[in-house]
Amino acid sequence: MKVLVATEKPFAKVAVDGIRKVVEHAGYELVLLEKYTAKQQLLDAVADADALIIRSDNVDAEVLEAAKQLKIVVRAGAGYDNIDLAAATAHNVVAMNTPGQNSNAVAELALGLMVMAVRNMYNGTSGTELKGKKLGIHAYGNVGRNVARIAKGFGMEIYAYDAYCPDEAMVADGVTPLHSAEELYATCHVVSLHIPATAETKGSINYALLAHMPKGGLLVNTARKEVINEDELIQFMQERQDFRYVTDIMPAADQKMNELFAGRYFSTPKKMGAQTAEANINAGIAAAKQIVDFVENGVRRFQVNK
Ligand code: 3PG
Repeated sequence: MKVLVATEKPFAKVAVDGIRKVVEHAGYELVLLEKYTAKQQLLDAVADADALIIRSDNVDAEVLEAAKQLKIVVRAGAGYDNIDLAAATAHNVVAMNTPGQNSNAVAELALGLMVMAVRNMYNGTSGTELKGKKLGIHAYGNVGRNVARIAKGFGMEIYAYDAYCPDEAMVADGVTPLHSAEELYATCHVVSLHIPATAETKGSINYALLAHMPKGGLLVNTARKEVINEDELIQFMQERQDFRYVTDIMPAADQKMNELFAGRYFSTPKKMGAQTAEANINAGIAAAKQIVDFVENGVRRFQVNK
């Protein structure tokens, strides 16, 4: 049984060591493909893999076609928009994610980006504080809940909108549920995005929605770039000189946005939300254990394809 870890953005070494331990303890072989630069390298590496662990790496129909022996692919992380689920099903491959394993890391970065933005990107001028400000959490899943927990420590007033999460779960956390995205954006000084990239959400953060935000509004994106309608965001930021956007997922128009919106736009050069030793260990080892559990016991918990 060959387990391939294919990570364009590698895990911390300590996490790889942990994955190796789980895989070798089960009597399987671990193969590493890190920092690859061409798709062909992935196509070659998957050819004889029985199981695959990935991060944001693209597993499309071509990769699945090349992976003749593959039985299972586990996305070590939350979002699985990088896996072609229909193609996985067509190739008889089980696809899983590891929900919750890296969510604290992403939540900490969301708060870090907020602090940086309200302190004017640390440029030496007087900024503002998060305390007493209204925070809107857009989607109340694993990351959203961690953002609420941390933001409480900052003394923020916390609101959330999530069409799939019952009000009671938010209320139990001391979070005020709102019932539309428009209401959330109109209410909050800061909005933190935690929606997945799906057919329904892609491009959904658009001019009309952002226009609800109050003066001095701040949007923090540690989710996916695809959920943003980039052209409309740029148009909105040109019209609303008070509005700030900080993101962990570099927009296609990063250079242009840096030029146009200096001081109120920031993107990390590479997605860093889940890039902590702890998150790498948690998600990587969970992925390895899920593979062993599937192969040995047929356990399909966390399967995301039908
Ligand atoms: C996730 O969906 O788990 C996060 O976006 C982390 O992605 P990464 O593994 O590419 O850092």
